[in-house]
Amino acid sequence: MAPSALSLKLCILLSVLGILACQAASRPLAEATAMRKHERWMVRYGRVYADEAEKERRFKIFKENMERIEGFNRAGNRPYKLGINEFADQTNEEFRAARNGYKLPSLPRVEEETAWFKYENVSDVPASMDWRKKGAVTPVKDQGQCGSCWAFSAIAATEGITQLTTKKLISLSEQELVDCDVVKGEDEGCEGGYMEDAFKFIIKNKGIALESTYPYTAADGKCNAKEAASAAARISGFEKVPKNDEAALLKAVANQPVSVSIDAGDFSFQFYKSGVFTGPCGTMLDHGVTAVGYDKDANGTKYWVVKNSWGTSWGEEGYIRMERDIAAKHGLCGIAMDSSYPTA
Ligand SMILES: *[C@@H]1O[C@H](CO)[C@@H](O)[C@H](O)[C@H]1NC(C)=O
Ligand SMILES: *[C@@H]1O[C@H](CO)[C@@H](O)[C@H](O)[C@H]1NC(C)=O
Repeated sequence: MAPSALSLKLCILLSVLGILACQAASRPLAEATAMRKHERWMVRYGRVYADEAEKERRFKIFKENMERIEGFNRAGNRPYKLGINEFADQTNEEFRAARNGYKLPSLPRVEEETAWFKYENVSDVPASMDWRKKGAVTPVKDQGQCGSCWAFSAIAATEGITQLTTKKLISLSEQELVDCDVVKGEDEGCEGGYMEDAFKFIIKNKGIALESTYPYTAADGKCNAKEAASAAARISGFEKVPKNDEAALLKAVANQPVSVSIDAGDFSFQFYKSGVFTGPCGTMLDHGVTAVGYDKDANGTKYWVVKNSWGTSWGEEGYIRMERDIAAKHGLCGIAMDSSYPTA
């Protein structure tokens, strides 16, 4: 304590005098402050490390992330903020490997390219939509260290259409998809999968179980055939939104929650905290999420409301607002490239 307090006083004194040596003098203080922040963060998120070496390694990553986040927010040249969250002790590479899980099918699917889009001729879309306010969205879930985003995305869209057709909002089982939708080796549980294949499974299985009867474990498991047969909700089909067309996506989202695919690989996505996200991001789709609304902010910036599956410490209580109607046809982070929704 004493040396850091001293170095702080020294630093203030030196800065008052305009002496640059302050920078060097404050280094141990910054280190101690960062360490305290890391300790507090560990308590908050219940993080325990195997040994001191691991803790030291994680602290370094934590500090680097924290400094980068603070630098980004200080620069203030984007309409959104980053923040420390549950993922602050992971490098971006680790985070991407453990958390995403969108996997395009290995075989090209020509027949689905020209599929029927039932919202094609919708001409009146409301200026804004929020399916949360309409009671069609369950609370934000957490996929954990498992690449099962595809299951969360498909389930959120299925929960949406179920509420719209039955007026009942029920939480449905991602784990059933992780465990049971493994035939043919397209969807691979925690190793990744594809939302349209999840819809196909739900159709073929004649429904999907409740979250409460087939709860989430964040790990690959053996399919529980008995629970999987307890269909709590059904869908009759699914349709693709014409790709690279945000106007088409708007027509769909105006009518129901829609599974969308994005490139969520950037550092700024890992630590997104609030505001309208404007990138940077690419179009290497690696994450499945759900568009549950759209609107524009006070400055007229249009955005999509997107439900993620990384718990509520990330983003705006687990949601992200992503800029909408950008010049590039593929949409921000490729959001218009590969979207689909179930029908009932
Ligand atoms: C939209 O309208 C066109 C022209 O009337 C029609 O051919 C097409 O089938 C309609 N699409 C849908 C999805 O209803
Ligand atoms: C609108 O723009 C101003 C000026 O750039 C900015 O300070 C403010 O935070 C913005 N408001 C929103 C809601 O983004």
